[in-house]
Amino acid sequence: MDAVSKTSPTTATLKVGDDSWELPILSGTIGPDVVDIGKLYGQTGMFTYDPGFTSTASCESQITYIDGDAGVLLYRGYPIEQLAENGDFLETCYLLLYGELPTAAQKADFDYRVTRHTMVHEQMSRFFHGFRRDAHPMAVLVASVGAMSAFYHDSTDISDPQQRMIASIRMIAKMPTLAAMAYKYSIGQPFVYPKNDLDYASNFLRMCFSVPCEEYKANPVLSRAIDRIFILHADHEQNASTSTVRLAGSSGANPFACIAAGIACLWGPAHGGANEAALKMLGEIGSVDRIPEYIKRAKDKNDPFRLMGFGHRVYKNYDPRAKIMQKTCHEVLGELGIKDDPLLDIAVELERIALQDEYFVERKLYPNIDFYSGITLRALGFPTAMFTVLFALARTVGWIGQWKEMIEDPGQRIGRPRQLYTGAVQRDYTSIARRK
Ligand code: SDX
Repeated sequence: MDAVSKTSPTTATLKVGDDSWELPILSGTIGPDVVDIGKLYGQTGMFTYDPGFTSTASCESQITYIDGDAGVLLYRGYPIEQLAENGDFLETCYLLLYGELPTAAQKADFDYRVTRHTMVHEQMSRFFHGFRRDAHPMAVLVASVGAMSAFYHDSTDISDPQQRMIASIRMIAKMPTLAAMAYKYSIGQPFVYPKNDLDYASNFLRMCFSVPCEEYKANPVLSRAIDRIFILHADHEQNASTSTVRLAGSSGANPFACIAAGIACLWGPAHGGANEAALKMLGEIGSVDRIPEYIKRAKDKNDPFRLMGFGHRVYKNYDPRAKIMQKTCHEVLGELGIKDDPLLDIAVELERIALQDEYFVERKLYPNIDFYSGITLRALGFPTAMFTVLFALARTVGWIGQWKEMIEDPGQRIGRPRQLYTGAVQRDYTSIARRK
């Protein structure tokens, strides 16, 4: 990634008819420059128009950098490959929140603080019992995280840095507990309390898979795998759910309500719901010899079918997380002695064919993080409906870190986009008697 050359122009000229305006160009440390249009409406009486925000930088941030063409993802400047290989998820959480890798003492203190916030208020367990057992776990998670605003009033004053940090720690610490409770509730098993002598990932797996009738022994290979999966999903610049959290937070809403809004947005199949949809798609394809039929459907403009787990708004190269996800998938299947998983065979063959097909090559459609995560999570024992819950669990630190960055930005204002109006011009009311 080349630093922006100092000879770049500092203003852009907008010409409309005989008028022209100079707009400032701002440069970051790396990545594209931006044209500052903050005063455009006041100067020109015009808005910019960018539905889907394909060319819009909504904020300044120092947390995560993506180079979509090069397939690069940095958390506070550190490549995702190095963090996933060398650190653990709570180290990544510390890095995203504080901006630097922790010293040994800082890491021990952070682990201690998170570990001692893992229990949820006992009343919350009754909250779960209001749901049908077959409620989608994402519906339960959206509701229970939103309900945290009703239980943790002492960390909802966003003007207090201390309360902002406590709310951040609480979110990171309690998400595994709430996620595990949503899973246990869906299978009719009793909730399992967290155990403070376990690491973050092992604690989560134990809360999901242990039962009162027998001891649960965490498998270190599987714990390491789920911990790495959390690192891969931790943050991703201004994606749809993070932008939702920022917009909700810009009104001054409390952090728990903002995270609940992010969870709701992540649920969509075009976003975090794609891991659940990708596994369902592989199941629907059913066998390698049916792949050409589905490739044809994915290319057919009249068919709404898309290859789930493929394509990305930013990555026009291989998603670096997908490569690590694929490696983790093979590790988990190997550890569990799963020699041939038919869905993995379909996924590998589907990827091979798609990456040679002109339609996908032309549009730079590569596997994204969701393509291999479903196979891995299913092998770990999670039902499909839990896949996006795990994504939300991991992404909570990214959401809360971006929320904190926004709240602590002195220039922060409520987000309020405008529109291109193409509806009716003003007209007068007619009584119902006179309507034809
Ligand atoms: C995540 O933003 C993030 O960072 C998100 C995320 C994160 O960590 O937060 O990375 C997580 O959400 C990953 C993406 C998971 N979604 C899926 O896997 C769903 C399948 N993918 C697509 O729906 C799509 O690729 C998106 C939504 C991911 C991106 O959509 P864009 O950028 O709006 O692209 P587009 O829809 O305009 O597609 C461009 C072209 C179109 O064809 P043309 O009209 O140009 O002929 O590519 C085609 C699309 O039809 N296309 C696909 C396709 N994805 C795009 N065709 C078939 N299968 C696909 N998966």
